Amino acid sequence: MDLKNIKSVKGMPDLLPNKLTKRTSEDKIKQADKLPDIYAWQFLEKKLKKIAEVYGYEEIRTPVLEQIELFKRSIGNETDIVSKEMFVIDRGEQTFAMRPEGTASCVRACLEHGLIRNSQVQQLWYLSPMFRAEEPQLGRYRQFHQFGIEAFNLTGPDIDAMQIAMLARLFKELNLIDKIRLEINSLGDLNDRKQYKVKLIEYFEQNYDLLDSESKIRLKTNPLRILDSKNPKLKELINNAPKLIENLGLDAKQHFEGLKNILTELNIKFSVNSKIVRGLDYYNRTVYEWVTDDLGAQSAVAAGGRYDALVEQLGGQSTPAVGFALGLERVLLLMGEINKPKVDVYFICLNNIAKITAIKISEEIKNKLDLNLHVHLSGGNLKKQLKKASSADASLAFILGEEELEKSYITVKYLKEDKPQINLLFAEVIKFLGEYCG
Ligand code: HAM
Repeated sequence: MDLKNIKSVKGMPDLLPNKLTKRTSEDKIKQADKLPDIYAWQFLEKKLKKIAEVYGYEEIRTPVLEQIELFKRSIGNETDIVSKEMFVIDRGEQTFAMRPEGTASCVRACLEHGLIRNSQVQQLWYLSPMFRAEEPQLGRYRQFHQFGIEAFNLTGPDIDAMQIAMLARLFKELNLIDKIRLEINSLGDLNDRKQYKVKLIEYFEQNYDLLDSESKIRLKTNPLRILDSKNPKLKELINNAPKLIENLGLDAKQHFEGLKNILTELNIKFSVNSKIVRGLDYYNRTVYEWVTDDLGAQSAVAAGGRYDALVEQLGGQSTPAVGFALGLERVLLLMGEINKPKVDVYFICLNNIAKITAIKISEEIKNKLDLNLHVHLSGGNLKKQLKKASSADASLAFILGEEELEKSYITVKYLKEDKPQINLLFAEVIKFLGEYCG
């Protein structure tokens, strides 16, 4: 292959500074819908880390590759994710998969390191790339980023509500609360679902001829997923199907009522959507999605719920668990661009000695003050360097030329204010900047 033709992989965009973020040419996404530049990512990531800390969650980092069996056993063999979307690496004796989500990896790591033994409460967060071979479109990528949290050994519904409150706070802080809404549902307990499944199969079998070919397969493999179908021809049939929410056992019902009460007390608006079944098999009781109408078919911005049976299913003790994951790309598409961090001082160096002096002075400033200082090292005349300072959006230009070096001062030019330039002695720089940037 001609080296010039080596491009990034379809659905895995590069994220760049300065309005340069490019999609791969194969991605069928309009340029206008492109992801924001790296500054918005940095801003959001900082906010996510802060909110995780404020709510008492600790970071966990797990490898990108896991044994494929982990995802088969947790997410479920019949789900779209496992049956057709995983990036699989076959190494002969062992087969690995690039993680399509974080919950399974988190549980695996907790079990491996004894983090949730003996009912120990554990609250963890992660912010990592995930991989799913879906057809790329607006808001849907093959490498995407999730911020996730998982809490173990708390039975809720208080913890369920608190995790939802955490997202509500985040969306408010990001000014997105008007663009998204919360939809909740309960999938009941295992037994509730078993009994419901019988009813649902009976209903769909009675209406077998109305099902499409995909739903006919799902009727055998995972009948609840028929409720997730996007086929408009099935809408009425699905609307009239028996609802799990109306067939909950007493415990699951009380849990759901408890959750609704706490959300109401917290003033968090929600609606009950009995069609939320989620695309992963491990859920029980509470499930929810924060959805938007602004991203076409990719409506879920964040989603989660309880998975009280998963730890045991993966070989641990019975451990209640609940969590969510937020898709950074979808949040960023709703947020739009963020300005890059401002530059406080741009050093203009008019000869080689000036460059060394500027580096020395800027190092001394950095020892004392937390400022953004850029030193211009690539030469050019005063006009060219001043232009660079303006395009970096700097507040001050510190000019160092022959005369300045001789008399040990800096010519300070105010780039954002209408003030005359001044001469500032080297010895007074820190005092001046301390007061100016205060
Ligand atoms: P999920 O619904 O599969 O749940 O994914 C969570 C979020 O990740 C979605 O709401 C969406 O924002 C984002 N996402 C998923 N797929 C893509 C994609 N192809 N491109 C861009 N964004 C995407 C989970 O992954 C569960 N592990 C959540 C969870 C954590 N439940 C309990 N704990």
